[in-house]
Amino acid sequence: MQVSDYICRTDSPEQTKALGEILGGIVPAGTVIVLQGDLAAGKTQFVQGLAKGLGIAPAEVQSPTFALLHIYSGRLTLYHFDWYRIEDAAELEQLGFVEYVDESEGVVAIEWGARFPDWIPPDALWITFASGDDMQERQITFACAADSSTAQALAEFKLQYERQT
Ligand SMILES: Nc1ncnc2c1ncn2[C@@H]1O[C@H](COP(=O)(O)OP(=O)(O)OP(=O)(O)O)[C@@H](O)[C@H]1O
Ligand SMILES: [Mg+2]
Repeated sequence: MQVSDYICRTDSPEQTKALGEILGGIVPAGTVIVLQGDLAAGKTQFVQGLAKGLGIAPAEVQSPTFALLHIYSGRLTLYHFDWYRIEDAAELEQLGFVEYVDESEGVVAIEWGARFPDWIPPDALWITFASGDDMQERQITFACAADSSTAQALAEFKLQYERQT
């Protein structure tokens, strides 16, 4: 599979949220975003920015680690999942995960989504958070299939990000 990818570096939670906000202003309905990286890597911070870009108050956005799913209304509905505590794919079925993906008006963001890769659609946007040399440094890699509709959104993200920095 050919992949489009792009790497950004942030030095604070605010910068990570700002990246999310740019993406939130761009993502088309039906986008599935997988966020991977260790505990405290910045996934929820990023989703707070994503929510802001979608017109949702970022303060509303809390980690869904225990609730497994939070739903917010904005320009598009945001379905914010966290699969950290999900032990078995049967739980995804119980949550009705597939129906949320088929919900074309929404954006689905999944923290720890790589735990069940078979459930992730092929045109998903994968965002990987890695720590850097400093406490607050994060390297954030965006990747998706090159021939997907998501690749267009990623190209637009790159343009807007480079315009702002
Ligand atoms: N550059 C940065 N980007 C994002 N968060 C940062 C950065 N630097 C420091 N932090 C801190 O790291 C923490 C990231 O927390 P966050 O809840 O977003 O992690 P997470 O990846 O969602 O973890 P979990 O797997 O537990 O859900 C916050 O306390 C934030 O203040
Ligand atoms: Mg989190």
